[in-house]
Amino acid sequence: KNKGYIFDLDGVIVDTARFHFLAWKRTADELAFELTPELNEKLKGVSRVDSLNKILNWAGKSIPQDEFERLAKEKNEYYLSFVEQMTSADILPGIVEYIELLKANDCPVALGSASKNAPEILKKVGLFKEFDVIVDGNSVTKAKPDPEVFLVAAEELGVKKTNCVVFEDSEAGIEAANSAGMISVGLGDPEVLKDAKYVFADFTKIQDNLF
Ligand code: G6P
Ligand code: MG
Repeated sequence: KNKGYIFDLDGVIVDTARFHFLAWKRTADELAFELTPELNEKLKGVSRVDSLNKILNWAGKSIPQDEFERLAKEKNEYYLSFVEQMTSADILPGIVEYIELLKANDCPVALGSASKNAPEILKKVGLFKEFDVIVDGNSVTKAKPDPEVFLVAAEELGVKKTNCVVFEDSEAGIEAANSAGMISVGLGDPEVLKDAKYVFADFTKIQDNLF
């Protein structure tokens, strides 16, 4: 008890990580650069602007500001064309049950995401009302791996940061949770998420664990 639970969105609550990958891959194609799944791991959890900067860096390209803005806007529009099709079927396995478990135990629940599209996505899949606190890319300035998003969520939840549990699918997010002094729980590949305190394949494997 007295713990706070902070969820990343993309790749933790909903299966949108693959849409981000498809959209960034198309941007990379335009820059004649091949975005591999391995490099894509470095983009997970990273803000839109920082992601494009990384891709340009890997491609060894520098472009004018207006072109940068055009590519970022185009990526988001393509990404949103996938988001438009989303329903509750895009919620990842075990999430609904786990949030129910938290509610049944009076545990406060927050979203801690870098995405500016977070509220829209939560509404699309019918989970918006489940969150006591939403901190997203519209309300923070420093992107993961900076811990700001999780620290603000803890403060808004009124829970001590060392009593916060963070669920993350990205290297950058686990790093952010660890440097916030929080309990980091990775969802996905243990090799990618090696710095997490705990790693599970998905929420069906966490079951009734409140950490
Ligand atoms: C999440 C995703 C990233 C994405 C970022 C910004 O952290 O994991 O892939 O770049 O949000 O999302 P946005 O929807 O604002 O472009
Ligand atoms: Mg994520």
